[in-house]
Amino acid sequence: MTLDAEKRLAAEAAAELVEDGMLVGLGSGSTVGYLLPALAYRGLRVRCVATSPETESSARELGLAVESFSGLDAPARLDVALDGADQAAADGWLVKGGGAAHTREKVVAAAADRFVVVVDSSKLVERVAPPVPLELSAFGLASTLRRLGTVSLRDAARSPDGGMIGDFTGVFDDALELAHLLSADPGVVEHGLFPPELVSDVVVARGDVVEIRTL
Ligand code: A5P
Repeated sequence: MTLDAEKRLAAEAAAELVEDGMLVGLGSGSTVGYLLPALAYRGLRVRCVATSPETESSARELGLAVESFSGLDAPARLDVALDGADQAAADGWLVKGGGAAHTREKVVAAAADRFVVVVDSSKLVERVAPPVPLELSAFGLASTLRRLGTVSLRDAARSPDGGMIGDFTGVFDDALELAHLLSADPGVVEHGLFPPELVSDVVVARGDVVEIRTL
């Protein structure tokens, strides 16, 4: 079975976790690309918020109701958020942001009562490792890069919130320590390390078997 087939299987299983009437956070990336039609197919009355313009337009094309998550009129909490990951470690840490959407993805995950991560078997790792995606403030960028030391800037468009996208490439042993270091830097808008406390379940497909790991 191909990794794309695993993504589709895992995404279909994750779509089954959504219930009628829920407020749903939609992640970004190719796995979410399989989740959206699976969710739309269920025909539930759900209200969604999207973590990227790409997800927003795909979801709308499929007939899902997507509302803004900006401003005071937006939902203050979500029932569930579903998203992919670049790495999902045995201890629950994730690396996200391969598609540069990690800032909005983390905001949406934090707003959800249940954050469900959906992965194919290639994403499972023993421990998270570099690169760790970063969104950086353009203001003071050179000084931020000097402080962080080992960052490779991507030749990519800015995030929808105006941030520059790069990757922390330095070697690290302790994900929590690096997460604290990155969060403490005023030039880092957000980083792609997601702690185990944020994750409720990991839906993983390996071949034609889907497992739901609850953290
Ligand atoms: C988007 O910025 C990312 O966090 C994605 O969730 C992650 O890169 C997984 O993407 P795929 O589903 O395409 O592997």
